[in-house]
Amino acid sequence: MIDLWLAERRDGTPQAEEAIRGFVAGVVDGSITDAQRGAWLAFVMVNGMTAEETVFLTTAMTESGNCLSWDGLSGPFVDKHSTGGVGDKVSLILAPLWAFLGKKVPMLSGRGLGITGGTLDKLESIPGYRTDLELPQLRSALEEVGCFINGQTPDLAPADRILYATRNETQTVPSIPLITASILSKKLVEGIDRLVLDVKFGSGAFMQTRPDAEALANSLTQVGNAAGVQTSAVLTPMSEPLGRAVGNAVEVEESMATLQGNGPKDLVDLVVELSGEGNAARDALDSGSVFPVWQSMLRAHGGDPEAPLRGGPVKEIVVTAPHSGMIQQCDAGQIGRAVFVLGAGRRRAQDPVHFGVGLHLHAKVGDTVEEGQPLCRILHAEKGLDEARRLVEQAYRIG
Ligand code: URA
Repeated sequence: MIDLWLAERRDGTPQAEEAIRGFVAGVVDGSITDAQRGAWLAFVMVNGMTAEETVFLTTAMTESGNCLSWDGLSGPFVDKHSTGGVGDKVSLILAPLWAFLGKKVPMLSGRGLGITGGTLDKLESIPGYRTDLELPQLRSALEEVGCFINGQTPDLAPADRILYATRNETQTVPSIPLITASILSKKLVEGIDRLVLDVKFGSGAFMQTRPDAEALANSLTQVGNAAGVQTSAVLTPMSEPLGRAVGNAVEVEESMATLQGNGPKDLVDLVVELSGEGNAARDALDSGSVFPVWQSMLRAHGGDPEAPLRGGPVKEIVVTAPHSGMIQQCDAGQIGRAVFVLGAGRRRAQDPVHFGVGLHLHAKVGDTVEEGQPLCRILHAEKGLDEARRLVEQAYRIG
């Protein structure tokens, strides 16, 4: 028997919405076999998909499970998605900032994988913080605080979970239509009106080059808007880490400093840009007025804003400048790998992370250093220390 829907994909014949919805439904109810699923994804990887087909796929994946609905609450409902980078703690700051500025932010985030840190891992370094709140608690957080940052629940976009696992096994992750549908389906279930995308490029990013990031940003904005959510994208470099802290607890500390008006410039500038609120956002951060919203968000998630962060105590060593000069490079990829080998990241989704290990960058690109001056402080628990030190030394180039 010929499965026309699979033959069409093989031949690169554009498919109707019904065929794509049928595929997604079959993935979720198990009527499509593993082999068919793998073949379908491989055909998309090789032949691509039209923008219209990508909208059909995104919508079908979004609707493959429940969607959150905020009936009775007044918006606007907004969120941000970053394609991930090293030291990227923007979500921790932007969610309470937007809430302070009158938006509602129903943010569902993920865990780190490989060298990219995960927002949930960072938040779980706060004692008591739960990332598995259920709908009534999420609704109260949105109503009372204006924001939450929670994990995905299994009933949201189940098609993405199945397809993403198969893509990992079949080398079909790097396909723009598949990435687009995967990212957007997980965001469109949030019941948002507006989505801002931070598409990163560089050695510490999912997309290594600017043209690749541009292609992804174009696809995401086109499909997001066609699927009914006002979607915009900002392209940002990830050749050096964002801010000065990289890890889990250390990034929460830097986020709290930023919410109290003491953030590093590159981080504050990016948060302000992504917020779309210009001076109002900058003034709110500078004044420290957003910090109480952060504390309320933590309490809504069961977290204790006053408690010391998890993961301590850790040991410290300092990497110093081998000679004087100006920092020309602080490579995000190498820094990300250093933090990963210390134990802050995970190789497989089920691995635990160490909350306390990480890096503090004392010097970044453009800074001048004298020989022997600290470049980077490594917070460690013995594991991976030698390799992390070597990676940090390689990450820096001093001219
Ligand atoms: N992140 C996702 O959520 N999905 C992809 O396909 C790639 C990156």
